[in-house]
Amino acid sequence: AKKKGRLEFVKMKQSGDKVAWVTAYDFPTASFAEQAGMDMILVGDSLGMVVLGYEGTIPVTMDDCIRHCQAVRRGAPNTFCVGDMPFLSYQISDEDAVRNAGRFMKEADMDAVKLEGGRRVISRIKALADAGILVMGHIGLTPQSSGQLGGFKAQGRDPESARELIRDALAIQEAGAYSILLEAIPPELTEYIAKKLEIPVYSIGAGAPCDGQLLICGDMLGLFEAFTPKFVKKYANLAEEEIRAFKEYVEDVKTGKFPTDDHVYHILPGKEEEFAA
Ligand code: KIV
Ligand code: NA
Repeated sequence: AKKKGRLEFVKMKQSGDKVAWVTAYDFPTASFAEQAGMDMILVGDSLGMVVLGYEGTIPVTMDDCIRHCQAVRRGAPNTFCVGDMPFLSYQISDEDAVRNAGRFMKEADMDAVKLEGGRRVISRIKALADAGILVMGHIGLTPQSSGQLGGFKAQGRDPESARELIRDALAIQEAGAYSILLEAIPPELTEYIAKKLEIPVYSIGAGAPCDGQLLICGDMLGLFEAFTPKFVKKYANLAEEEIRAFKEYVEDVKTGKFPTDDHVYHILPGKEEEFAA
């Protein structure tokens, strides 16, 4: 299938066709996602937790992100890919934000970048849009500021914080973002924002009434064992399967069941005597 772009995603919003997307951090996962017909891939800084084993996303660097984005692009050459800007790649200045977002495009061939925050990052979003870069906003539960939020907690559940999120969403659109991701907020609020905004509005843990759904691959595949948020639906339990396969292999090696004659390279026919000598 031809790679989708911004206009296809706008059309999908208008026609009510839902976007299905997932995170990926490596070549095989990206390739499987593309083969499965995923509309879009996020190379999230969640890679810190899902594949690098950190407790949060704060330690993830630009170089980590670029390396993983490159692998994902090789695995999914025909899928719209979003590079996630890691902590401190955009917090300091507009200039920093443009330089780092530019790296996602120049070095890893990403189609867009995502950054966390509402009105407090408006000048960043504007600077990126002015540089011709497709920017996705991300509000609600924003893991890079989970310390301020008091942990990985749902947002917008009381009227005052819901109003703040609506103001953030409007400001993000106004600043030139091409889309927005809502994380862990009530579906009623998601629906209001998705109807109010012209740009596509996507959900991770923010309910159905919007333009598409994102899940973290490690969560939905059952590969991430540290914790599973309420909003995750598990479509597989690959950790169980992987442990089972590893155990069986260990057992086979110890008992001599592996390798068998099927797994070895015999001496070339007719050369057996020379070998023996
Ligand atoms: O890094 C990531 O995967 C994300 C999602 C949690 C939205 O930003
Ligand atoms: Na992220």
